[in-house]
Amino acid sequence: MTRPDTIVECLGLGRSYGDRVAVDSIAFSMAEGEFFALLGPNGAGKSTLLNMLTTLVAPSRGEARVAGADIRREADRVRAALGIVFQDSSLDDRLTAAQNLRIHAALHGMGRAGPEAVAAGLAWAGLEAVADQRVGRLSGGMRRRLELARALMHRPRLLILDEPTLGLDVQARRDLWSRIATLRDRGLSVLMTTHFIQEAEACSRVGVIDGGRLVALGTPLELRARHGGTGLEDVFVTLTGQKPRDGDAGGRERPAVARKRAGAWIR
Ligand SMILES: Nc1ncnc2c1ncn2[C@@H]1O[C@H](COP(=O)(O)OP(=O)(O)O)[C@@H](O)[C@H]1O
Ligand SMILES: [Mg+2]
Repeated sequence: MTRPDTIVECLGLGRSYGDRVAVDSIAFSMAEGEFFALLGPNGAGKSTLLNMLTTLVAPSRGEARVAGADIRREADRVRAALGIVFQDSSLDDRLTAAQNLRIHAALHGMGRAGPEAVAAGLAWAGLEAVADQRVGRLSGGMRRRLELARALMHRPRLLILDEPTLGLDVQARRDLWSRIATLRDRGLSVLMTTHFIQEAEACSRVGVIDGGRLVALGTPLELRARHGGTGLEDVFVTLTGQKPRDGDAGGRERPAVARKRAGAWIR
């Protein structure tokens, strides 16, 4: 039975592509107000899990409820409750920063509240000065801030972030992370994936995912106590092994591949 303060509940949730099992069978629940990180090596199934929870990908098995709504039968209710930042940018590069936010306000039926929410979003992201610039001309850090501001505009009950700081330089990552941390301090429910151990350490609970399964779940402190090691990174390597999941780099890579690899052992 779902408790009233449960914001996410998965029961045996899985997805296969032909013979390939992307997510095997995942069960966990997350309480309202939690700041929850999923850690896992490249190809562990993190994005597929989030994509099922956001109703973009249909599960092959199992079930899940998000904000009390069934992801299969009540997709509209699930989406209305969510703010989402996908792994890959979903901004329209040809439009300005303000226009991207306006479209979001319209899609969420924000009506008269729209213009104020657009202004507040730009201010929150520190992007007022570039509001009328095309998004394609903004830096990676600015684009990520804009996506985060957009995801928050309709006041979602749950924020889902797939590798929000991936590919950013140190300054941009720190800046974005400090903004994400204010959401944690405000008590917003956040479910995120990250490849930065420091970010996972700052979360209230961490789920380690490998081969489409949740192999550990607990607070950073509990994981360290249970699996040994001086930090979460040791715990992670104990659970998921030393071997890089991408094979040998070898030669020049296409930029997209290089960018993903820059996310070290997790993406
Ligand atoms: N649309 C798809 N078609 C086929 N295989 C996929 C598809 N999406 C993901 N996969 C596979 O599922 C596994 C998990 O992928 P993903 O969820 O993207 O992992 P992560 O986000 O943890 O890196 C990988 O082996 C990936 O190649
Ligand atoms: Mg991913």
